[in-house]
Amino acid sequence: MPTLTINGKEVQFTPGQSILQAALDAEFEIPHYCYHPGLAVVASCRICLAEVWQKNPKTGELQQIPKLVPTCQQHAAEGMVVHTDSPKAIANQKSVMEYLLINHPVDCPVCDKAGECHLQDYSYQYGRGHSRFEESKIKQPKKDVGPHILLYSDRCIMCTRCVRFTREVTGTAELIVDGRGAMEQIDVFPGRALDNELSGNVADLCPVGALLDKDFLFQQRVWFLDKTPSIDGITASGDNLWIEHHEDRVYRLKPRTNLEVNKWWITDEVRYGWKFVHREDRLTMPRVRGVDPFEPEQAPTAYATASRRANSLLADAAKAKGEGSTGLMVSPMLTCEDAYLLAKWVRSIDPKAVLAVGPVPRQGSDKTFPGGFVVHAEKAPNARGVRMVLESFAPGAVLDADGFVARASTLAAAVVTGNYPSAWTTPAMTKALAATKVILIDTLPSPIEASAEVVLPGATWVEKAGTFRSARDRLQSFPRAFAPVDFAKSESQLALDLLAEREGRAAVAFDDAAVRAEMARRPGLADLAGAVFHPVEHAPVESDMVFVEL
Ligand code: SF4
Ligand code: FES
Repeated sequence: MPTLTINGKEVQFTPGQSILQAALDAEFEIPHYCYHPGLAVVASCRICLAEVWQKNPKTGELQQIPKLVPTCQQHAAEGMVVHTDSPKAIANQKSVMEYLLINHPVDCPVCDKAGECHLQDYSYQYGRGHSRFEESKIKQPKKDVGPHILLYSDRCIMCTRCVRFTREVTGTAELIVDGRGAMEQIDVFPGRALDNELSGNVADLCPVGALLDKDFLFQQRVWFLDKTPSIDGITASGDNLWIEHHEDRVYRLKPRTNLEVNKWWITDEVRYGWKFVHREDRLTMPRVRGVDPFEPEQAPTAYATASRRANSLLADAAKAKGEGSTGLMVSPMLTCEDAYLLAKWVRSIDPKAVLAVGPVPRQGSDKTFPGGFVVHAEKAPNARGVRMVLESFAPGAVLDADGFVARASTLAAAVVTGNYPSAWTTPAMTKALAATKVILIDTLPSPIEASAEVVLPGATWVEKAGTFRSARDRLQSFPRAFAPVDFAKSESQLALDLLAEREGRAAVAFDDAAVRAEMARRPGLADLAGAVFHPVEHAPVESDMVFVEL
């Protein structure tokens, strides 16, 4: 690979790359504001300027380019020598920082971006440390520019990343630069809000605290947030994301860069779709019908009682009506591991149990934005994965939800799983299952819940580890961000507990990697051994400040 030298360090680059991108790929920092790898290069902020020497094509001698060069725009070349730490480059960095801070309110203590703000960070690293500006600052307004986004205009540094995003990625062009000189500001056209399916990305793109996410506004300081890599858990996109949480509570989801999947973006639907995780009416305790002599309906009970009842319901049904008289419907919201362990449990009781994939919600058809980003119509993360796993138990005989509902009245007992972020049952399904003894594993109340014999509380995707197979047929694993709410358990753990109770032994803790290895030995599931994409471990950021114990 060709190399160039930046501040005395050799850096490899791919032909066609800019100096800045080559440096960033080598984890070498050059300050930058207007540059973003997903957007056109405009070279307007000028903080990335450097002294550059390159070979004279005729003589082969190194020659300095007379002026400072924007590294975001200048292509890297073999043998190039770049200095971002020369007196001239440093003087430019200080001047740019001083210019950007002239009218900035410096309201970091009340700004959501504090702690992850490039203006704040670069001010420490490249700024002057004091202001020479004595005049009054220009005040700019705060604007409500869209359903999800607020604009604090006087924090804006006019990098135009947000404007370019709405032109190049979404093609909706809601944002504009209005005015000129010191009075220019970002704005929307009158009567037209920043309202598209990807609008939340502008808050991530904004290098300062000008564009803010209303949903996260004043909710939490960013340095308290833990980051867990995850996968979109509510649609079939397989988009990579970060779950940012604190004390078992999600505060926000942000895109995790993956150039093969979602690049740098996620949809608003995914970004704000986690709220059901903390709904007040989450199912949190096992419940069993008739277990309490004073309560003919369901009553909360211990897991041991619920497991015994669930196992005896299935075993009694299979014994009384023969093999194939029980069924399992696995929700496409569940992981491959959940599907495998649930099918293993049910099939250990009834080797011919009917297997089905639960309802797969769809909204319209897939939508592709001009920048290539696809919003998927399928609103479940793992329909393909669940079907793939169930097919390994019943090749060619796995039903869809309608097929299961049609068979439900012939089943003596059925295990039904939900875990959808919103209502998912149909009147036909509720009616068909009313004649069957149902063991329900779900996260939220549903009409089936009232008539179920046993209700077990499941875990949302942020509360468990597992693997999803996306609409692009990409298998991706993810770890759990935090433990399930109250007494809820992941469906994988519930299945392991139920298997252990049936076999009269102690339960084992769920280990997603071990279960994937076990699954991969089954016909048709070899991909789970070597074709799963695992998230790259996130190295915790070390603080450069001394913490003072109070
Ligand atoms: S609002 Fe943010 S992203 Fe948009 S131009 Fe200003 S600083 Fe850049
Ligand atoms: S990042 Fe190069 S000029 Fe803005």
